Amino acid sequence: MTGFSIYAGTLIGEKEENGMGEILGVGVTHYPPLSGRDENMASILKRVLQDPDLPEQYRRPEGWPEPRRQEYGVDEGGSAALRHREALVTGFRKARRLLDDFAPDFVVIWGDDQYENFKEDIIPPFCVLAYESIEHRPWEEHRGANAWDEPKDKTFVYKGHRTAAKYLATHLLEEGFDLSYAYKPLHHPLGHAFMNTLLFMDYDRQGFPYPVVPFQVNCYGRRVISQYGGVASFANLPTDDRLDPPSPPPWRCFDLGKACARVLSRSPWRVAVIASSSWSHAFLTPKHHLLYPDVEADRALYEKLRGSDYQAWRQTPLAALEESGQQEMLNWMCLVGAMAELGRQPDETEFIQTYIFNSSKCFAFFRP
Ligand SMILES: [Fe+2]
Repeated sequence: MTGFSIYAGTLIGEKEENGMGEILGVGVTHYPPLSGRDENMASILKRVLQDPDLPEQYRRPEGWPEPRRQEYGVDEGGSAALRHREALVTGFRKARRLLDDFAPDFVVIWGDDQYENFKEDIIPPFCVLAYESIEHRPWEEHRGANAWDEPKDKTFVYKGHRTAAKYLATHLLEEGFDLSYAYKPLHHPLGHAFMNTLLFMDYDRQGFPYPVVPFQVNCYGRRVISQYGGVASFANLPTDDRLDPPSPPPWRCFDLGKACARVLSRSPWRVAVIASSSWSHAFLTPKHHLLYPDVEADRALYEKLRGSDYQAWRQTPLAALEESGQQEMLNWMCLVGAMAELGRQPDETEFIQTYIFNSSKCFAFFRP
């Protein structure tokens, strides 16, 4: 869409008042091992099992919950990995079909930054990445083969949408959200929350033609620098005095998502808003010895999602999310807030449960 100009700090669109904006809501995952081979699907678990500080009784299947033993099976999760990939790829193909049918002018992706682009020099609570374009070679630092057998120097190029990102930032600031924005990357071309989402939304490698507005949410909060936003061994888990300041609370992410929906509804664009993250993470759940995620807490939120009990989502305390290793669900808080604003119920959801592949994953689709 054209016809926009920046005037007195505000982006004025000639069709803005018409409220022509259409919004498609999508929830997915950016689970890193899906970009690798099946034999490495349980790589995070295998690392924990080798941790010398793991109490001996949890090292063997006899010390695990029954569903976890079942899933691990007699082949150390080999056949479960096949099923896991199949379920995830099916979800992504569905999401892609939905996206193509909707034909958005751009996509907004709410994703976390795991000590990739944002590090010691700055951790914004929220940051819109208003890039002109994105170029990244994800396999350069990738260990092992990737799922597509692509060469190390394979380059992916995506269009950004600076005008839309500035529009979003401008109007969110007007609504009272002290939003950060960036015109170029700081330390990393594109964090894996965004990059994997794009790679998985294009699992069949037909190309991804839609401009992308990555929207960073500081999900890792107290563990973003202290734990490098990632996996740590027992011995290296940060003590309380080393933890960082927190992430924005769930209610704030929810309200920000609501504001995004309001602002985008008034725009002239067709926009797909995508939340990208797995749910409870084993490596963020010390109460389970980092071995398996909090499936019960995930299930409880899933039922509330299916029942459109969005206020229950908004009222979830940050401490509860942290306790259950659900930090990354702050991305989903934004999506659920947006859908609450639009009065939208999910027309399709799927919860892909696992006790051995670090995190259960959820797909949710909210058609306009
Ligand atoms: Fe993540």
